Amino acid sequence: MGRRKRRLKEEIHEFPGLAFPAFDGLEMHAGGWSPRVFGNLGPLHVEIGAGRGAFVRGLARALPEVNFVALELKPDRATRIARGAQEDGLRNVRVLSGNASHLHAIFGPGEIERFWVNFPDPWPKARAVRKRVLQCERLRVLRWLAAPDARLHFRTDSAPLFAWVGEQLPGSGWRAVDEAPDDPAWRAAREIPTEYELAFRREARATYYLHLAPDPSCSVGAPSSMAADPVSA
Ligand SMILES: C[S@@+](CC[C@H](N)C(=O)[O-])C[C@H]1O[C@@H](n2cnc3c(N)ncnc32)[C@H](O)[C@@H]1O
Repeated sequence: MGRRKRRLKEEIHEFPGLAFPAFDGLEMHAGGWSPRVFGNLGPLHVEIGAGRGAFVRGLARALPEVNFVALELKPDRATRIARGAQEDGLRNVRVLSGNASHLHAIFGPGEIERFWVNFPDPWPKARAVRKRVLQCERLRVLRWLAAPDARLHFRTDSAPLFAWVGEQLPGSGWRAVDEAPDDPAWRAAREIPTEYELAFRREARATYYLHLAPDPSCSVGAPSSMAADPVSA
């Protein structure tokens, strides 16, 4: 890791109350993030793999009544998100540096209204498939955390990943639904490109969208254990 990244990684400690460098100690907020962490009863949205935070900052500006948690595996990127949120004066954003596969350790069942998953790493090689964020087993965990009327919005430039995620749906607790053009959150989100999306647009690559809702015919139980996860930066 270069000096710049190392410095950014350390800087995450400079945003107390805004950025959390690890999941340790956050278990106590499970089921109560909005009242305890944000101090209100607003809906809770989680962006998984938030990158440098352009999307979450844009959406948080557009939807000030929504509480956003930006989850990012890489601490240097998490620092950039926190810095940006602070510069923008966004009171409805918190930043977590950690792994999406451990979300059930710190959030409670039914607590999350929306998940945003933008351009997750496709991990195209067969030996890395287990690192993909939207695999069936992890979708089941997200479903456990999801409110009954929750949505999960996924976008990617990778046609193979898009098809693969579609194959993960049976048994995941989620079903594909049409986009709701009059839904204010989706309407706002559609207008906010992510960093990766901007880069891909310059290359004229297509973006594929998938919208998921809890599948009432497929319930999921509590995640049995905190699976040790191999995902690394
Ligand atoms: C391809 S980038 C996309 C970033 C951003 N969403 C965008 O569209 O510009 C994927 C991001 O997800 C993060 N990531 C990968 N696996 C993760 C995991 N298991 N938990 C949290 N973040 C993860 C990576 O560190 C990276 O920043």
